[in-house]
Amino acid sequence: MPWIVLMVSVTRPPRAEMPDDSPARPSLGPGVREVDRPQLFGAADVDARPLDDDSVVNADALMRDARIDEVLDRLDRELVALHDVKTRIREIAALLVIDRLRRGVGLESEPPTLHMCFTGNPGTGKTTVAMRMGEILYRLGYVRKGHLVSVTRDDLVGQYVGHTAPKTTEVLKRAMGGVLFIDEAYHIYRVDNERDYGQEAVEMLLQVMENQRQDLVVIMAGYKKEMDRFFSDVPGLSSRIAHHIDFPDYSIGELVQIATMMVERQRYRFGADAGKAFENYLAMRMTQPRFANGRSVRNALDRVRMRQAIRLYEAAGRGRRLTKKDLVTLEAEDILKSRVFDGGAYGSSSTAPTSAK
Ligand SMILES: Nc1ncnc2c1ncn2[C@@H]1O[C@H](COP(=O)(O)OP(=O)(O)OP(=O)(O)O)[C@@H](O)[C@H]1O
Ligand SMILES: [Mg+2]
Repeated sequence: MPWIVLMVSVTRPPRAEMPDDSPARPSLGPGVREVDRPQLFGAADVDARPLDDDSVVNADALMRDARIDEVLDRLDRELVALHDVKTRIREIAALLVIDRLRRGVGLESEPPTLHMCFTGNPGTGKTTVAMRMGEILYRLGYVRKGHLVSVTRDDLVGQYVGHTAPKTTEVLKRAMGGVLFIDEAYHIYRVDNERDYGQEAVEMLLQVMENQRQDLVVIMAGYKKEMDRFFSDVPGLSSRIAHHIDFPDYSIGELVQIATMMVERQRYRFGADAGKAFENYLAMRMTQPRFANGRSVRNALDRVRMRQAIRLYEAAGRGRRLTKKDLVTLEAEDILKSRVFDGGAYGSSSTAPTSAK
């Protein structure tokens, strides 16, 4: 998608305008060469000499070498819906590209703060997008490695005096140069429990979010209501987070699209009526407890595959010759055997979600 069509090398002003003693300088597209060795927000990106205001800055090479369009296009293709999330990611990418171009012509400014908060119900794509974000930030040289370290309270907070600081330090060390993703971040700190060690972890995080923001992006994720409460309990946290992004629940149409995509990616296809059967399955499953958007779709498809396998295995046992078509086709009956259709699986408190069919 042609969302940015700038070009990134700098065209120098005509020779006559340059001072006589200026030695030939390498073409300024420093970012372009730096892509494989990111840290583009360091001094290496800045050409010490001031350029003329008319110098043409041209973003093409940067866009091409960092392959930003490719990542954004993939995000568009591989993730259903999430329009606002995708728009925000594009805006962030644009900000980083322009920031880098500015540096390329010696216009220094504070690197933008990129800590984020992703709110939404389970399975709405928060972890998936956080991973992509790591890749984008790496390609644009904001972080050195672009890996994602995903943690929860237990990875950060100890159970005894003196345990929290080393745990949090170890996590921060692992995450440096990439993205630290804190799932259900509000569990870190329990304001009503005086003996809770979470406060120490929060203080360390706040410090690193402020002082090392050039080398670490923190993404906190969780339910919106709990996250809002967490922000009001921890002064200074919300203001350190530049991007608050909400992940809405998917509509049934979007869930069907997610399912179709997953089925194709796994090299299966829905047989006649199977797509409709799966849509009916989703319509019922959505109204039941512990529904988790994309994750429920994925889990349901795993069980459909299992039922297909059993069906084929038994058919082969009865002497039927299987074809490639048999192996790729998920039939309506593989879906309709789900317990969701007789209403029991998720409504009953005695049935754990993992054991539901
Ligand atoms: N928009 C989407 N398009 C395609 N697949 C999606 C989309 N959103 C989620 N999924 C799929 O759903 C599953 C769950 O997504 P993910 O783990 O990112 O959700 P989450 O918001 O982090 O959930 P949780 O809050 O429970 O950790 C993954 O397999 C993911 O690929
Ligand atoms: Mg997640």
